[in-house]
Amino acid sequence: TDLKHIRNFSIVAHIDHGKSTLADRLIQETNTVSLRDMKEQMLDSMDIERERGITIKANTVRIEYKADDGETYVLNLIDTPGHVDFAYEVSRSMRAVEGSLLVVDSTQGVEAQTLANVYQAIDADHEIVPILNKIDLPASDCDRVAEQIEDVIGIDASGAIQVSAKTGQGIHETLEAIVAHLPAPKGDVDAPLKAMLVDSWYDAYLGVIVLIRVIDGKLKKGERIRMMSTNAVYPVDRVGVFTPAMKPVDELGPGEIGFLTASIKQVRDTRVGDTITHEKKGTTEALPGFKPSQPVVFCGLFPVDTAEFEDLRESIEKLALNDASFSYEMETSAALGFGFRCGFLGLLHLEVIRDRIEREYDIELITTAPSVIYHVFLKDGSMIELHNPADMPDPSTVDHIEEPRIKATILVPDDYLGDVLKLCQDRRGIQMDLTYAGSRAMVVYDLPLNEVVFDFYDRLKSVTKGYASFDYQMEGYREDFLVKMQILVNDEPVDALSTMVHRDRAQLRGRAMCEKLKDLIPRHMFKIPIQAAIGGKVIARETLSALRKDVTAKCYGGDATRKKKLLEKQKAGKKKMRQFGKVDIPQEAFISALKMD
Ligand code: GTP
Repeated sequence: TDLKHIRNFSIVAHIDHGKSTLADRLIQETNTVSLRDMKEQMLDSMDIERERGITIKANTVRIEYKADDGETYVLNLIDTPGHVDFAYEVSRSMRAVEGSLLVVDSTQGVEAQTLANVYQAIDADHEIVPILNKIDLPASDCDRVAEQIEDVIGIDASGAIQVSAKTGQGIHETLEAIVAHLPAPKGDVDAPLKAMLVDSWYDAYLGVIVLIRVIDGKLKKGERIRMMSTNAVYPVDRVGVFTPAMKPVDELGPGEIGFLTASIKQVRDTRVGDTITHEKKGTTEALPGFKPSQPVVFCGLFPVDTAEFEDLRESIEKLALNDASFSYEMETSAALGFGFRCGFLGLLHLEVIRDRIEREYDIELITTAPSVIYHVFLKDGSMIELHNPADMPDPSTVDHIEEPRIKATILVPDDYLGDVLKLCQDRRGIQMDLTYAGSRAMVVYDLPLNEVVFDFYDRLKSVTKGYASFDYQMEGYREDFLVKMQILVNDEPVDALSTMVHRDRAQLRGRAMCEKLKDLIPRHMFKIPIQAAIGGKVIARETLSALRKDVTAKCYGGDATRKKKLLEKQKAGKKKMRQFGKVDIPQEAFISALKMD
């Protein structure tokens, strides 16, 4: 296809504003997929995405559109994830296209992720077409929302298209606007091959599939390519496009978006943002590199049943094949035995991986307290990156500790502003900015990531009845008074419950955790002290009283089978528990104990 007839774009939106529904409509309107194959939310391929309604892996589709000017255009849509954990995937796919549709729900207005995503599009120099979606709903207010887009984002919304992705109204206008307002890509077909590695994932049949955007030159099947960051060479065995099903093509030229396969064994061998060229006569000039995505939240994953360790290893290795942003290494815990210390992009990412292990591999897991990476500066002048509070060095050797901070942007209706400010204040936040857009307030806070990773988002949703939206970016490290708090159950430290806390909050947190654990741990035949301690000093204590009755006591005399049955029942009830010394701790205690109210 010649460049003039190509348009490459992405759709940016806050979650639930209708991005996937709009993409489905565009595909349907252009008959890219026959009606029979049209499933709702075509682009969300993985089951878990479907269930949770979130798009995790960026997906792509090539649409052919015969425009009102009589010409046929190729429109390449790259779908981007909407959740804050995957901001990095958004930024890299933005670099592969020239324009964006900015979808805003006209019954809701601009939200935190609308802002975060549209700023990424502006950063990538995109031409932007604003779309006001859900105009079929009675609460739709296009004038107000268009004004808000102009006020808050600062782009012209006078030409915004009014759409109902549900009924199909405005879809034709949207396709025309893509052709008319988005720029055609630039590129030189005679120059040496230069292609951007946009994404890659593992397919059980084809191996690693690499999504590419060709900048200059041409790529054909059978050619040998070189990855410029590693110099690894691969023979290309397929090139093609997504319709959205994979369809082989003879070649991909400048401005085109498609895939290649080249017997690449694992996703780890591909670097997102890398430049792909030919082995011989390749370009010497690589594209400006992307920053690699770094895990920011770490936790331990242990099998409830220690016999399942090997199964867990296998499942983690398989998942990692398909997800280069997830890291893992083996970990041993005195209390939990063998498991893995895993790194994630954020809490949602953690939940998705944990769910997949439990569901797809049928392994029950104990998840330890999520932790961020602390910089621990020792008195000898060295610094260690602490991923696990259990590895905290002896406090007498520590000079000071720095923790990661974030800049959080929260949009919330006026009525709930007070609750949001209180929540941020409670989480050691520093207010940076407070502005208004209509009856909505936009607050910017500097917060410790540690206070956000656990349940901040849940709390924010609950104090604002779901009306607040939230987005964040990393802001670097800052020193604070942090200490390691241990939990002792029956005088034994449970390392999986160790956390880093601010010194001034340690007592409050310690007390809350002990109280929670007292409710979560079942009573035993003996008294169980539950304590929180810093160093050797106990700062909070609860006591779980002893269970007096034996479960078998209510069996009269010597009915052995009945007795056995009861004991078995009791054993089954214990399945989801782990023994710590003499005490059984149920699985849910590890997570619930950390939730703050
Ligand atoms: P993610 O892909 O998960 O980031 O969310 P999204 O922005 O793609 O939202 P999605 O397309 O899943 O739509 C969210 C909800 O809004 C779904 O229940 C849709 O059916 C509904 N929806 C989308 N567009 C319209 C519309 O034009 N009118 C009405 N009434 N509902 C719509």
